[in-house]
Amino acid sequence: MSGMPADVAATAAMLAAGGYVADTALATTVHLALRMGRPLFLEGEPGTGKTEIAKVLAAQLPRHLVRLQCYDGMDLSAAAYEWNHARQLMAIRLAEASGNVADIESSIYDRRYLEARPLLQALEGEPSVLLIDELDRADEPFEAFLLEVLADFQITVPELGTLKAVTPPVVIITSNRTREVHDAIRRRCLYHWVDYPDANREKAILALRAPQVSAQLSAQVVAFVQRLRTGDYFKLPGVAETIDWANALAALDARELETGAVDATLGVLLKYQDDIAKLRGEEAARLVAEARDAAQRAEPRDAAQRAGPPDAAQRAGPRDAA
Ligand SMILES: Nc1ncnc2c1ncn2[C@@H]1O[C@H](COP(=O)(O)OP(=O)(O)OP(=O)(O)O)[C@@H](O)[C@H]1O
Ligand SMILES: [Mg+2]
Repeated sequence: MSGMPADVAATAAMLAAGGYVADTALATTVHLALRMGRPLFLEGEPGTGKTEIAKVLAAQLPRHLVRLQCYDGMDLSAAAYEWNHARQLMAIRLAEASGNVADIESSIYDRRYLEARPLLQALEGEPSVLLIDELDRADEPFEAFLLEVLADFQITVPELGTLKAVTPPVVIITSNRTREVHDAIRRRCLYHWVDYPDANREKAILALRAPQVSAQLSAQVVAFVQRLRTGDYFKLPGVAETIDWANALAALDARELETGAVDATLGVLLKYQDDIAKLRGEEAARLVAEARDAAQRAEPRDAAQRAGPPDAAQRAGPRDAA
């Protein structure tokens, strides 16, 4: 397919240009999915950048983004297509009025009377990126329907026939694993588990997504969140929460992590009262101290990465401002 990145490095660079920091494993899977024309199935914790990949790919390829947000009870008329009964009825009335009723049965099941919903929209028209978001929320019968779309990029409408994609869409499916998606879907896709990023990647994400936050505060925020994720909490913060928290602290003019500001902003990071109560106070203070320490130890390395080797050592001294 034209416009596709040539190799894994080019894929990673394309994602980075769109503000997405992928590790090598993810860039490789994305590259293969594009190259082989196979759907990409992404599972992972909430807020780890699954949906964002589709958005960035659409922006960078560039292609039209067609999004199907799945939910319990979603049916074909919401996901794929729906006959426009009002227009069909009007066609019947017109045929009756003109005495032309002989072939009406076949002509009212014409493509003209079919309303395209996201799946059909992605097959017809401009080349697209089709995001089937949170498939685990849809019912299992919907998965069975999806098999034809994923395997052959086509939809069979019983009354009309088979509608096949002119240009197969780039398909991204995501799941938060509230239930297991069927094996038949998995087999048709390339699979990747999107994990929480390591500290370096999370710092790189903050540099792209929250560039106004100082390097020092970003490093401390990341060190804090990375430690927090090793704790026993009901719902751990995702990357989205890290970005929000760094922005929140910066909006409060924080230059460094301080226990007061941390305690006051825990609701940006954690979304359950039990988790917040557990972290607030002593535990938060302990993590703040550790995070500041860890960020300070990492600073010479980070500075070297930002500025290149020659002046890295000069930037390793104690600082009081970002
Ligand atoms: N690797 C990344 N590079 C850049 N930004 C990222 C990355 N991962 C996450 N983000 C940021 O985190 C935000 C949340 O990501 P996203 O909505 O894609 O998460 P998700 O995995 O789809 O979460 P959910 O399962 O809750 O839908 C994005 O808007 C983006 O700003
Ligand atoms: Mg999502």
